[in-house]
Amino acid sequence: SAVELGPYQHYMQKEIFEQPRAIADTLEGVTGIMPELFGDGAFNVFKQIDSVLILACGTSYYAGLTAKYWIESVAKIPVNVEIASEYRYRDSVPNPNSLVVTITQSGETADTLAALKHARSLGMLHTLTICNVATSAMVRECALAYITRAGVEVGVASTKAFTTQLAALFLLTLALAQSKGRLSEEEETAHLKAMRHLPAALQSVLALEPHIVAWAEAFARKENALFLGRGIHYPIALEGALKLKEITYIHAEAYAAGELKHGPLALVTEEMPVVTVAPNDTLIEKLKSNMQEVRARGGQLYVFADADSHIKSSDGVHVIRLPENYGLLSPILHVVPLQLLAYHTALARGTDVDKPRNLAKSVTVE
Ligand code: G6P
Repeated sequence: SAVELGPYQHYMQKEIFEQPRAIADTLEGVTGIMPELFGDGAFNVFKQIDSVLILACGTSYYAGLTAKYWIESVAKIPVNVEIASEYRYRDSVPNPNSLVVTITQSGETADTLAALKHARSLGMLHTLTICNVATSAMVRECALAYITRAGVEVGVASTKAFTTQLAALFLLTLALAQSKGRLSEEEETAHLKAMRHLPAALQSVLALEPHIVAWAEAFARKENALFLGRGIHYPIALEGALKLKEITYIHAEAYAAGELKHGPLALVTEEMPVVTVAPNDTLIEKLKSNMQEVRARGGQLYVFADADSHIKSSDGVHVIRLPENYGLLSPILHVVPLQLLAYHTALARGTDVDKPRNLAKSVTVE
């Protein structure tokens, strides 16, 4: 292959470890928040629009779900996120004042391209893409674009493309907020500082790998796993479950932790590892009571906490602590240990990490 593996065993591993650089490249040259980062005329568009419609597939769809939490909370603009293959075929109510945002690593996914064209045919003409390939069909089709600089991603299971999409979507959140007069200079400075810290923060999260290898041994013997998150970490739980099923073939589901009692709790036994994404945010106390519900049924908890969450290891509760509390940017950090967990579980099971059965890197036919 044109891309060398270097010291790594698999492209997925290499791409996980490239994330600090991929994010630094994606944010290179961003010295302030300006709508024009997304193309000429972006300010006029961002000023006019009254809502956002995000269209994507797979991992890119989960980046979109994360962005909904950011945009609604920071820019105060309503956001809908739709699976491209659903949106293109259902009757929906078009809003010409909506900003249509496609998210796609390849820029060639057939359903996402068709969904964009469908939106346009309904009179929605404000289009923007977050894409990793500058020469792709999607970039040609959209009026505005932000090109992520993940570099070539070879592994079928997306990793660095996802975190760079999140970085670009956080920038979009701030640019939208600014265009609406909802971003003070102090806030802009603080967010920029947090973003510049991302590469170093990612590096220290990657250093947790040996702890995750130990967990992977236990996961490799299971056939089912549950992932829980709440709020902005719910999409991260979804992405963690997707990574695990894609490359280990373990059946994995993600739930918003508050929904546990509405169904999945019935599945919980000692045989069910429950991965919990548990940074110390406003929902942590609620999440702790969800964890109690799992423990009471014998479920084994594998918790990704952060520096200041007061969650301790105990019988049936395994905790890995991320080095800091990353605030709004936390999803970008918390997905990394989930990527590593899937990767090392796949190694332990001996599956084909870079080319999982039945899956393709980019789905250019329906
Ligand atoms: C395939 C890939 C996924 C990817 C999805 C969307 O299913 O295996 O990793 O998330 O397509 O691809 P895109 O290029 O549009 O982001």
